Amino acid sequence: MEAYTWARIIHIISIVLWIGGVAMVTMVIIPAIKQLKQNKDKMNSFENIEGKFQKIAQITTLLSAASGFYMIYYLNAWDRFLSLKFWWMHAMVLVWFIFTLILFVLEPFVLHKLFKKFMDKNPEKTFKIMHRAHWILLILSVITIIGAVAGSHGLYFIK
Ligand code: HEM
Repeated sequence: MEAYTWARIIHIISIVLWIGGVAMVTMVIIPAIKQLKQNKDKMNSFENIEGKFQKIAQITTLLSAASGFYMIYYLNAWDRFLSLKFWWMHAMVLVWFIFTLILFVLEPFVLHKLFKKFMDKNPEKTFKIMHRAHWILLILSVITIIGAVAGSHGLYFIK
């Protein structure tokens, strides 16, 4: 029981630091950077801040998956993935998968270069698209948290 409780603690702390960081970047940092006059300043500030957060996000996504899969193993709850009322289990894995892809594959190998290229061409539009992408991920994460907290206490929203 004890290891399961620790896994749950690690899971929630990871989610708080990770999704809380995404909320901060989306609702505070990007709007503040948008107000900077020089494009060069915009790009440097964004890369500097997001670059620092990237490490935190990488560690917390790894910890949330390790603790999450341990809980599934402990509860022997793999068959939940076959049932629609456990949509929030699918949502957790989906959100984790999207972020993992972005943090470990797309950002280092593709997005970083693309961002620089598009910032040179059309900085306003680039920031707008990037801000929108952050909002979409944040909303998806919040819906997942609502589903996970409700679901693990017996409220499923669907049968
Ligand atoms: C590979 C990724 C993940 C796996 C395998 C996973 C698995 C789990 C499992 C097995 C539980 C316990 C469910 C229960 O007690 O019935 C849980 C709880 C929870 N998960 Fe995840 N999870 C993952 C990612 C995420 C993500 C990305 C989020 C948020 C966006 C999230 C948010 C939560 C929350 C808030 C709870 C706890 C609810 C509560 O105790 O009230 N999880 N997760």
